[in-house]
Amino acid sequence: MPAVYIKTYGCQMNERDSEAVAAQLTAKGYTLAPSEAAADVVLLNTCSVRDLAEQKALGKMAALIAETRHRRPNVVLGFLGCMAQSRGQELIDQLPDVDLVLGTQKFHHAADYLDEILSGSREKIVEVAEEDGSEATVREHLLDGRARKSVTAFVSIMQGCNQHCTFCIVPRTRGRERSRAIPDIVNECRDLVSRGVKEITLLGQIVTSYGKRDIPVKGGKSAFVQLLEAVHEIDGLERIRFTSPHPKGYGEDLIEAYARLPKLVEHAHLPAQSGSDRILKLMHRGYARERYVGIVEKLRRARPTIGVSTDIIVGFPGETQADFEETLSLARQVEFDQAFIFKYSPRRDTPAAGTTDQVPQEVREERNQVLLQTINEIAGRKYRGLVGRRVQILVEGPSRKNPARMTGRTRCNKIVVFDGSERHRGQLLDVNIIRAGSFTLYGDSDLPGED
Ligand code: SAH
Ligand code: F3S
Repeated sequence: MPAVYIKTYGCQMNERDSEAVAAQLTAKGYTLAPSEAAADVVLLNTCSVRDLAEQKALGKMAALIAETRHRRPNVVLGFLGCMAQSRGQELIDQLPDVDLVLGTQKFHHAADYLDEILSGSREKIVEVAEEDGSEATVREHLLDGRARKSVTAFVSIMQGCNQHCTFCIVPRTRGRERSRAIPDIVNECRDLVSRGVKEITLLGQIVTSYGKRDIPVKGGKSAFVQLLEAVHEIDGLERIRFTSPHPKGYGEDLIEAYARLPKLVEHAHLPAQSGSDRILKLMHRGYARERYVGIVEKLRRARPTIGVSTDIIVGFPGETQADFEETLSLARQVEFDQAFIFKYSPRRDTPAAGTTDQVPQEVREERNQVLLQTINEIAGRKYRGLVGRRVQILVEGPSRKNPARMTGRTRCNKIVVFDGSERHRGQLLDVNIIRAGSFTLYGDSDLPGED
């Protein structure tokens, strides 16, 4: 049977989609190739959020074409995901050696389409239409497809976003909001837990809007909080995470859920995007700075050790030095544990891309550097503050940088590297933090030595 290699760009949603496609293909008898060079089918699961991500995937495909055209002309090449969705046929016009372009609502057809291409019954396939019910199709998992068992898993709970932030292409690449039913999600989670998973991350582009139109508010609880409660009841599940929420979705019911549901970890990824009210309005974010800060305060009151991470865009069109300083002041005021900083990248057919007051590239670069430094200083202080503390970690596997050591994550989402061994995988351990590096903690687990 053919061997397939899938390379993933972008967010956790894309990682999850790739995993589901890989599971779907292996169920049909495909094998997973260890590298592109050993594959009969190479699929690039793409991201469109910034231009750089698109350029990387396009460059990669051009290199694959150059490498395979003469020596291995039968290799099937495909684009999946967000760029496939937003560019469609255009990708084959630009790179005629590409065989398959599969959009974000069509992942579950990957195996059938590849069969058709490999058998020669169809030459090229471009499929980017909408499909009713596609939110419930990303359900296959590949927990033990790679050498060892996973203890953490991602579960997709919804697709799409209706917020239409003026910089963002996601509503175009992922479509309108569509949510899966609660029992369907709970069954998937329960099955994962029965296969050894201890931590589940609920995924969606705007998870706090989960089920808004389909599941009525009950006893003051939104559909999302009802879902959290249902997942929380699963015996054997230890930790629940979710990403990405939207700040406007943090009502009293969700804050209260943090106080009440112990499996909900002490971590919130709260994309702020800017500290300036003027820019937040231009971005169409739906909240002002004061409301944002109020949410963080309430969360910290409910869970004092909560880790707060964020996304921030610098150089949004019209952003003045004064606006940028508001963002710096927000970073200092909130004291984020971690922040992903992005230089504004104009995306086609988004309102912000068409405005004439674009911030020069070198200003975006400089603001990026200044903010990065501020964030690193604050986060460094917070990480060092954990030295000497004892924290609970869930051991995930060997450290990527040093496979002789193991890594785990604290409940507040910080990575801890420690001297452990394979037998600790999947265990919840208490470790003493002995040292802090940049965005990594080093722990000592008091474990008896190996024989
Ligand atoms: N809620 C979504 C957001 C997707 S995009 C999710 O996490 O699933 C992730 C982040 O990329 C956004 O929070 C934003 O900070 C950044 N981003 C989105 N569009 C961008 C653009 N045009 N330029 C720069 N950064 C952007
Ligand atoms: Fe994008 Fe805003 Fe939705 S950032 S994914 S349009 S909440």
